[in-house]
Amino acid sequence: MMKSLKISTFPDYETLSKEAAMFVFQKIKETHEQKNTCVLGLPTGSTPIGMYQQLVTLINDSFQLTTFNLDEYYPIQKDNDQSYHYFMSKQFWKPISSQSAKGEFNIPNGEAKDPQEECQRYEQAIKNAGGIDLMILGIGGNGHIGFNEPGSAPDSRTRLVNIADSTVQANSRFFNSMAEVPRQAITMGVGTILESREILLLASGKSKKNIISTLLALEKPDRQIPASWLITHPHVYVYLDTEARA
Ligand code: F6R
Repeated sequence: MMKSLKISTFPDYETLSKEAAMFVFQKIKETHEQKNTCVLGLPTGSTPIGMYQQLVTLINDSFQLTTFNLDEYYPIQKDNDQSYHYFMSKQFWKPISSQSAKGEFNIPNGEAKDPQEECQRYEQAIKNAGGIDLMILGIGGNGHIGFNEPGSAPDSRTRLVNIADSTVQANSRFFNSMAEVPRQAITMGVGTILESREILLLASGKSKKNIISTLLALEKPDRQIPASWLITHPHVYVYLDTEARA
């Protein structure tokens, strides 16, 4: 199988964040020229924070954006400061709105009574928006993308999932106790992600070095490494800093 990943390595996190923001901004402009709007898929986590900080300085009121976040804990209240809703509001939606850019910001509803119905609604909302132009992803140490943990099927759709023990462990740093760490989430599926027209995967720091070297060495997808399905997509850009690049 042809490897399609287009890899760029930057000296440090700050440069990676600036370059990622420039890349996203260029795509927003290009897509805008074609259809007066742009649909982005967005991640939370530590990795994209620098990119969001840069991006909000570039976007202005001439842009119409629709965004779909990858995932949200379930169940969780929107105003819980660990919810992805809270994170996005702080890192992106509020700063963008204060730049008066027009936006429609979507994220799975962690408060939904019926999670299955919420998953179907979310898939439909992505379709109604015309699909995702550019999906931005982080990667877990175990190769997860969104909350698609090892074993996720390549044609999986938005659904309720159990969070892998290693991810619960990794997330516990943000919560007061292990008992508070959510064990379930609503996530776009691998199939949902792969339908995006273009994908930008970001990885920074030593903790991502192992998974990145595994990913870059793969000849074909491996079901135990959800990010490996990305090698089947024709337009995937991988932005790394030197610490993440083995
Ligand atoms: C977050 C998400 C996750 C993260 C991944 C990396 O919305 O979908 O897959 O992208 O866990 O997280 P960080 O950037 O904190 O290392």
